[in-house]
Parts: sequence; structure tokens; C-alpha cells
Amino acid sequence: MVLLKNTPHDIACAGEALRTGKLVAIPTETVYGLAGNIWIESAIAGIFKAKERPSFDPLIVHIANPDDVASIAAIDSNEASNMHFGTKGDAGQPDVTTSTAVNLSTLKDSPRLPSKNIHYLEQLIDAFWPGPLTLILPRRPSISNLVTSGLDTVAIRCPALPLTRDIILSAGVPVAAPSANLFGRLSPTTAQHVAEQLGDRIDFIIDGGQTSIGVESTILDLASETPTILRPGALPLEALQKIIPKLKIHERKAFELPTAPGQLLSHYAPQKPLIYVSADGLTNRAEISSILKAIDATLQKAPATLCQTDEYANSGHRTVSSYKIALTFGANRTQEVQDTGLFEEVIDLSPEGSDLQAAVKLFSLLHELEAGPCTSIWAEPLPTIGLGLAINDRLYKASVKLTS
Ligand code: TXA
Ligand code: MG
Repeated sequence: MVLLKNTPHDIACAGEALRTGKLVAIPTETVYGLAGNIWIESAIAGIFKAKERPSFDPLIVHIANPDDVASIAAIDSNEASNMHFGTKGDAGQPDVTTSTAVNLSTLKDSPRLPSKNIHYLEQLIDAFWPGPLTLILPRRPSISNLVTSGLDTVAIRCPALPLTRDIILSAGVPVAAPSANLFGRLSPTTAQHVAEQLGDRIDFIIDGGQTSIGVESTILDLASETPTILRPGALPLEALQKIIPKLKIHERKAFELPTAPGQLLSHYAPQKPLIYVSADGLTNRAEISSILKAIDATLQKAPATLCQTDEYANSGHRTVSSYKIALTFGANRTQEVQDTGLFEEVIDLSPEGSDLQAAVKLFSLLHELEAGPCTSIWAEPLPTIGLGLAINDRLYKASVKLTS
């Protein structure tokens, strides 16, 4: 792997590499992505291989200009033709669908964008692109099944970071880019994080420094009748609701105690157990002690299921409670949690209570903690305003779940 910098020479080098099918990890305003040319199947297959990502988990297509959306998504021509981006050929690809007639006839079995969503699409693009909003739209037939995992929709985003767009422009093709981490591991917010997980599997990393938001983009499905948030993220819900008042969103629950000892599951986690308690749970002695008991009982039954590393699994359940770190939000709350004496260490995600500061810190901190001496990480939901919703979603996903 070669580490590149934000210089015209290195951007050209990354662009050339992408154009010819190599894999390049690129910074964005959210997290680093592992990019590959969407028109080269071996590059897309290489992304799945490098990340050890299952092929059923589709990728986001990144474009340099908002107008390029029409080269990736099938937007119904009658209404979309009045939109400023209209419909046009596939970016950087010999065009197979330049004519609207061809496009629509080949798509007769595919979903159309619901007509009311066409107007939302235009407003959303005007308001939020370039930016951390990923839109799910009906795909053009020319988009590879590998990119979309065979779905008839495609995820598209136009990143806000000028460096990301410069790299895509230099490549001359849209790039597919999932977060540049191994499947199920923490998302990378620095080039160093990428190098640690993927350094020996990819061709280049462009170092753009620490990412400015720190959580992944918000994913909004516009292909279904009711626009639905599939993943809360870096673009706050409140901003989207100004354009689409009736948005569907899936809420995440806190840790649920099982009725009987079963299995501990963790799909998307730091290499240490993270326990996501209920609201204000970090000062609730009864809740914490019940959770520790439940984990104990579960680990006695199935000791190897707590974490992904053998080293951790082998160290046994005794270590879960020996060095507990609590993640808090805001100076007052931090003091309250410290006062309980329940945790060996308390780390404040943002003493001044800034959701952006907490988002920027979250993954970096989890990367540090998984390499450090703590034996478990405890967190409670942040207020669900702004980026709080996305942070809670990531905490939930990173947390261990007990199933009976
Ligand atoms: O901020 C981000 O979105 C970062 C940066 C690199 O752009 N990318 C990112 O990609 O988070 P990834 O692959 O880690 O997450 C993309 C998510 C996946 O959970 C995938 O299932 C979903 O997007 N996705 C992709 N295509 C989809 C589709 N057609 N329908 C529904 N979900 C889709
Ligand atoms: Mg990811």
C-alpha cells in the first residue's frame, strides 16, 4: 500500500489508479471509504474481498457532481425531464441508455421512482448535495449487480469534501465506496485506521486527516412509497424533515435483558464488549448489576460468543467487569456518572454537550479503547437531537446483544 497526500500529483495518481481498476481508500467528510471504479467488475469484487464483506451487502456509488445522479439512477422521464439534471448517459461509460425510450423500456419490470418522491429528490439534491446524504433510487440497468447486490435500487451520494470530489473527477468515473474497514469492525476516521485494517490488502490510501463529521452518511430510501430513513447519519433528521415532514424512521432500542441465558451477539463492534444501557442507565445500579449478571450467566453457557477475538473470548467472563469505561455526554452527566463509583474510568464524548464533537470523537475513541486495557465499554443514549440519533444508532450496532 502506498500512502498518498492531498496534492495535485497524488490526486492524479489516485485518479489513474481508480480508472484502471485499483482500490484506493479515500477520505470523505463522514468516514474513509474504500473506492473502486463502478464499471470494472474486478475492482468491485476486490472491494468485497478486501473487506471480507458478504456479497449481499450493497455499496454506495459516489459521484462528483449532483447532476451525475441521472447517470446512475433511473428517474422517470416525464417528470424528471423538467428537472435541472434531466436524464443523461452513464458517467464515464460508453452509453447504453442515452435515450429515455430505451431506458424506460428496459426498466419496465423495475421500480419507478414514486412521482411524489421526484419532487423530493430535486429539493433534497438542491439542499443537501454535495453532502452526507445517501439516496436510494431505482437503478439504471447498466449498474453492475455486484454494486447493488442484485437489488433493483442503487445507493448514491455526492460527498461534501472537495478532496473526495477531486479524486472522483480525476478518476473520470463514479466510484463505489463502502467504509474502509473490515466487515463488522469500526469505521475508519483517519488514514491510520484504514492502514491498520486494510493496509496490506489495497493499493493506495489518500491521507486527508481526521474526518470532519465522524459518522457515516444518512441513508434515505426514496424508491419506496413513503420516504424512509434506513440509517440515521451525518445529516440530521431535523434537516430532512423540513423537506419531507412525514419521514419513516426505525428507532433503536437499548440493551434488553433476556429472560433466560442464551447467546451474546455482536455484529458491528469494537473488539471489546460495548454495553448500551437504557436512558440514564449509567447511574442505575440495579440495571448495571442485572446486566452484569445476565452477561455472566450467558458466558458460562456460551463463553466464546462475547467478542470476535479469540484472545478476548479465551480470557473469560471475569474480565468484563474488571475495567469498565463509561462514555458520557456533557459535563454535568459526567460528574453524576463519576459520583456513582460504578466505573473504573469515565470518558466524556463532549464536555460542552456538542453532538458534532461527540460524533467526531466516537469512532476514534472506540479505536483507541479496543487497543487499550479496558474490559468493557458502557454507554447510554445521547439526546436524540441532531447527530445524537446517528450516534445512538452506532452505539446500538456496536453493542453486545443477549438472545435467549
Ligand atoms: O458516509 C458513508 O456513507 C460512507 C462513506 C465512505 O461514503 N460509506 C458507507 O458505506 O458507510 P457502507 O458500505 O459502510 O454502508 C452503506 C450502507 C450499507 O449498510 C448497505 O446495506 C446500504 O448502504 N445500501 C447500499 N445500497 C443499498 C440499497 N440499494 N438499498 C438499501 N441499502 C443499501
Ligand atoms: Mg460500513
